[in-house]
Amino acid sequence: MLEHLFKNNQNWANNILKEDKDFFKKIETQQTPSYLWIGCSDSRVPANQITGLLPGEVFVHRNIANLVIHTDLNCLSVIQYAVEVLKVKHIMVVGHYGCGGIEAAIRSKKLGLVDNWLRHIQDLKQKFNHIFDHIEEDATGCHKLCELNVIEQTLNVCQTTIIQDAWERQQALTVHSWIYSLKDGLLRDLGLTIDSSANVNAIYQAALQNWALNIEP
Ligand code: CO
Repeated sequence: MLEHLFKNNQNWANNILKEDKDFFKKIETQQTPSYLWIGCSDSRVPANQITGLLPGEVFVHRNIANLVIHTDLNCLSVIQYAVEVLKVKHIMVVGHYGCGGIEAAIRSKKLGLVDNWLRHIQDLKQKFNHIFDHIEEDATGCHKLCELNVIEQTLNVCQTTIIQDAWERQQALTVHSWIYSLKDGLLRDLGLTIDSSANVNAIYQAALQNWALNIEP
């Protein structure tokens, strides 16, 4: 069963060893990633491949629509372990255009249990109804909601006790907001970059303004 995947794996391991015969020995006992990637589960957005990082270089949390929910113990545990144990230097919240989760939420598509998870996206859209009222609920609306979601989830990361505590003890930690395009395989920085608890709200508001300005009429 799934023979080809084992074959792929064998080839992959061989290729790594060709580059560095001690590679697996070196990372066997410990990982020292500098980055925590919080992204979408979408199969087209794999963290390591997109950023050209090797095993051991990026700690990853992925869920549908890259959400950071205040009470999601899974996500919070990943953040806590990454920040307090692994001591990552950067956290990137990475959304992507054409996100099926965002599209389902914006169109109120019924998909089952996952609708409850995606309710968070609908809440977010509702919070910004004054803007979405003026955008067509077509590709542009989805596009903008994908971006807004990254901005919002970046703020959520910054508001966790984990990040607040890290900044309070002067731990070097920067939170980034990125978006990936399936069309060209490129990452873009949405400009919301935060490295201390000072002015989080002001930086967030500026990012929102910038986001709203870039809406095509
Ligand atoms: Co997605």
